[in-house]
Amino acid sequence: MTLKDQVLQGHKRQIWLANILAKVGYDTPIGKLLRLWAYYSDAIVMVRHWRDFLYIRKDNIGDKYFAVDQAIMHSSHAQVKELMHVEPQIRGNDLGIIRILAPSYLLNNPLSLGMNGREHTGARNVFLQALPNPLEHAQTLGELVNQCLADAAKQGKLHIGKDLPKIMLNILHQIVFNISLSEEDITASSNFVEGLPLASLPNFISQRLLAFKTAPIIKHRQYLIERYKESPKWASYLETGSQYQLTPHQIANTLFDMIHIAGTAGTSALLGSVIGVLCLDNALKNDVITEFNHVWDGTEPLNGQILEQSTLIHKAILETSRLYPAVRFVSQLAKEGGEVEIGGTKCPFQKGTRLLGSILTANRDPNRYNNPDNFDTTRDFSDILSWNGQGQERACPGRNLSIGFIQIFCLYLLKKYKWESITEVKWDFDKVTAVTPNDLVLQGFAPQ
Ligand code: HEM
Repeated sequence: MTLKDQVLQGHKRQIWLANILAKVGYDTPIGKLLRLWAYYSDAIVMVRHWRDFLYIRKDNIGDKYFAVDQAIMHSSHAQVKELMHVEPQIRGNDLGIIRILAPSYLLNNPLSLGMNGREHTGARNVFLQALPNPLEHAQTLGELVNQCLADAAKQGKLHIGKDLPKIMLNILHQIVFNISLSEEDITASSNFVEGLPLASLPNFISQRLLAFKTAPIIKHRQYLIERYKESPKWASYLETGSQYQLTPHQIANTLFDMIHIAGTAGTSALLGSVIGVLCLDNALKNDVITEFNHVWDGTEPLNGQILEQSTLIHKAILETSRLYPAVRFVSQLAKEGGEVEIGGTKCPFQKGTRLLGSILTANRDPNRYNNPDNFDTTRDFSDILSWNGQGQERACPGRNLSIGFIQIFCLYLLKKYKWESITEVKWDFDKVTAVTPNDLVLQGFAPQ
């Protein structure tokens, strides 16, 4: 059977399931079991062909279709933008398309993405307190970045897939908690990030059958949570979180996820893609360097004004995030049931159905962007969806920090370091790995 047949047959089963769920109930034991079956049936194809899966359903069924656990996928720019603006949003404990079915992996604390109401407001306030404004902290961030790049220079290479997540973990722990992690801690934290798919397996399998994999990761998480509570910044986070009745366990775990999942996985993927784009496009790289030379002589400490004047790299970061979104899906739950038109047929859906937004297809929607697959820094980025929009309840609180951080990283990388050669720059749109050129290595990496 061809991939196309497989993906479309899977959708026929989803249409059948929509009618069955209307009869047996969405959250009844049989309804849950049927949805779990649909979830894993689609997931088996998606983990190996995720982009093709999205486009085969979009091109053959339409901009809206069912996927995974009978969720309604929204794939155009207009639809995803509208979804992002829904306020208040009701969430389940999902990481985009991934359902967290093994809460043990997260020490039984929901992701902030899965929190609602007061609990979620409390978590957001703790985030906003923890995340520095890069314009005000450019010098400190610059020094931290420079130290990490100097370490990479000692080993003579910068490996995108392996080194960038470790750099992010190191720096985020320093700025959020003022704590330094050992090499061993950083490796254990990277294992947590890489092992995230283990959280989407049923709890029994993840915690018990795969204990040889998950137990050391969970133990490391417990250890770090205790260290966070000894940080000089802990008292202030505790004070803010307590105002919203968050427990110390919730506050520490929520910050752990902010650093590891959102901060590290998201930013290292986007940073890797920006480096990949600059490696492929010499003209762009030279223009960026010319601008850097104009705004920074490389001797004075970095400051916010230098970042504000580095406009080309800013646009290049936004355009890279459009083509290679670090976060692929956003998710929320339907507040009411109803009928949805899918492929010209009206299908019932139930209250609590997941509404997914596909950022990749929305970002490449030809109705919003001319020549959507081309890299173009002159586009209008005012409604870029990569950070879950801007200014609403659920928008990414790390947006400014992640963009400022990548600007700072590029300023140091291009002005103070050099490399002799690169390996192939390739994004894997088949296997569900981070959307970044994971295997790219800058070889012969050294100070200029
Ligand atoms: C310093 C780096 C970053 C930090 C600390 C951070 C932090 C967070 C946090 C804590 C949330 C959850 C917000 C909530 O529950 O209300 C979030 C959501 C989100 N972030 Fe970030 N983020 C960072 C970088 C990025 C990057 C680089 C991207 C993509 C380009 C990104 C895209 C998103 C998206 C799309 C969401 C919404 C996910 C959803 O609603 O399902 N973030 N971020």
